[in-house]
Amino acid sequence: MGRELFQGYQILKEYQFWPQEIPTFAEWATKWNLFGFVGPSGVQEAGAVIEELVLRMQDNAEMAIEAAKREESLIETEDQPIVYAQLRDSLLKDQASKKDKNWCVHNSIEGLRLGMASEMMDHVVAGFDTSSITLLFLTWELSLPSNKRWQDKLGFEIASLGGSLDPRPIDQLPILHAILLETLRLHAPVPGNQPRITPSGTHTTLGPSTHTFAVPPDVRVQAQAWSLHRNSSVFPDPERWNPGRWLESTPEQLEEMQRWFWAFGSGGRMCIANNFAMLVMKAIMVAIWREFRTRAVDVAALSGNSTLLQLVGTCTTGIEINLSFNKQGVWKCCPSMSGL
Ligand code: HEM
Repeated sequence: MGRELFQGYQILKEYQFWPQEIPTFAEWATKWNLFGFVGPSGVQEAGAVIEELVLRMQDNAEMAIEAAKREESLIETEDQPIVYAQLRDSLLKDQASKKDKNWCVHNSIEGLRLGMASEMMDHVVAGFDTSSITLLFLTWELSLPSNKRWQDKLGFEIASLGGSLDPRPIDQLPILHAILLETLRLHAPVPGNQPRITPSGTHTTLGPSTHTFAVPPDVRVQAQAWSLHRNSSVFPDPERWNPGRWLESTPEQLEEMQRWFWAFGSGGRMCIANNFAMLVMKAIMVAIWREFRTRAVDVAALSGNSTLLQLVGTCTTGIEINLSFNKQGVWKCCPSMSGL
């Protein structure tokens, strides 16, 4: 199931621009069978396969909840649909508060089915691609011969854990944190198109205090992590992958960098899983570089990926990077590692 979903998603992703940015046109083109505009016919099928898979996942979650209620089966903790159950309960409560006399849970679940499936789809899609894209670029940057010193520093820092896999000290490793932040800055997996509609009935003021301008109500506006992360007055030499900027800057510079850092967005629609995602990626980094050294075999492979497509969504389909992993004993901690 995971494989089908992943393959379908990769096909869809290349054509996400149309339904996301010009939905009316995409709908019209689909209705009139003008698939050529919005993607080849395989794209429609990939969409149908993913919808079907997510609906099936939802049905299974429903069955698990019902079975648990009737105590028919003992469900293993890892198989319990905890997040789904939370969403389902809060939507049902919301519906019940507006209930009419014919209201019943089962009618309500049927009515909410597509809404809940869309939420599930959102979580599935938001959860895997972002982290995997970040780790792809991170592995690549760390494996370049020019960044070898960062890989060495990371290896020694991980060795300082003394083999512990406790998440708290892992989360506090400064070099590991800086490497991850710098990768999210330069290769943000959601680089653009995080639109918002300005509030109705009032003008919205945008821009710095010296250059403010008013945007009318109900207008679609957006900012891009890609551009914010390349502001050279905040991130000098912005195209250079340099984790040191997160370790050597003054507290004031650091505060400004954090204010401009937008990999997870901000405000009401910001990533709900940013802390979780950071921790998972850190755990994966520890798992790799506590055991291996990595080296990029084909140094030019990732160049040329900085296209307009990057502004819509980072697309790594078809990109292959060639790495060599050298397993060696766990690295010994080097006491002189404190200097950068
Ligand atoms: C490197 C990892 C990740 C990055 C960079 C990232 C980035 C983002 C960004 C920029 C948004 C906001 C989109 C917008 O403002 O329109 C977002 C939303 C979201 N993210 Fe993440 N994300 C990551 C990992 C995850 C993971 C692991 C999950 C779930 C397990 C997740 C779940 C979500 C959800 C559900 C939303 C929608 C929130 C809403 O609209 O209310 N993300 N993410």
